[in-house]
Amino acid sequence: MIDIDGRDEDFFVHGYQQLTKACDLPGVDAKIIKTVLNDFVRIYKGRTVTDNSGGAGEYPSAWLFLMAALFNPKLIVESGVWKGHTSWLFRNACPNAEIHSFDIRLGQLRCKLDDVSYYEQDWMSNDIVSNLDINESSLAYFDDHINQCLRVKQAYDMGFKYVIFDDNEPVIDGRYNVGMPACPTLQLLYSDYKYGEKITYERKGEQHVYEYLEDDVYEAVKYIKNYFILPESPCSVTFVELVN
Ligand SMILES: C[S@@+](CC[C@H](N)C(=O)[O-])C[C@H]1O[C@@H](n2cnc3c(N)ncnc32)[C@H](O)[C@@H]1O
Repeated sequence: MIDIDGRDEDFFVHGYQQLTKACDLPGVDAKIIKTVLNDFVRIYKGRTVTDNSGGAGEYPSAWLFLMAALFNPKLIVESGVWKGHTSWLFRNACPNAEIHSFDIRLGQLRCKLDDVSYYEQDWMSNDIVSNLDINESSLAYFDDHINQCLRVKQAYDMGFKYVIFDDNEPVIDGRYNVGMPACPTLQLLYSDYKYGEKITYERKGEQHVYEYLEDDVYEAVKYIKNYFILPESPCSVTFVELVN
């Protein structure tokens, strides 16, 4: 029996089956989900980035591995590489996928793989992404702390149907409890907060205020068909199905 941050196989099976129902993904037999989880546990033990502070720990990594392996995309575009752990995770989950990984700063990269293409720039800064063969079997992953509504619009424009977000943080009592919220997050988009309301957060001991503005929303609701926040995910890893 596996134990990933206190959760067993049945927990992940239940969560993954909820996800498939929420986001029009093919159903997967519990046995297969358990096999992939056991692969994750074995592979994760040999990870190159052993200290991934600032990036995904074991529990979100398990979900990312599971979703990527079972969805099995032919193409993955990642924004927010940091030390390279999530690129490594996607490569292990999807050995045959083409992977393109973007970060505006690659100086932190500790695990550089020969069969991943890294770019030190925002994914929209030139034509790289628009020249890729993006279709329904492609996956975009955003863990870059950039406006999640903007990322939804950009992913839609690029032709993605399936997107994963990290850090889809909620606003609780007018506050984001993280230092670099991707304002506005999708949880803010689907909340009762109104445009013009002010949301605070603290970064490195300094208080910041974000004013929720319609201009920041890019009509994101129009592009989102379904949306599922993975259970008990402290960084609110979220799977999004975009409209066609
Ligand atoms: C939380 S880290 C990514 C962690 C990584 N996905 C992991 O779990 O190991 C966020 C990264 O986003 C990067 N970033 C900030 N702005 C960006 C942008 N416009 N495009 C791509 N990456 C960006 C930062 O440089 C940082 O490396």
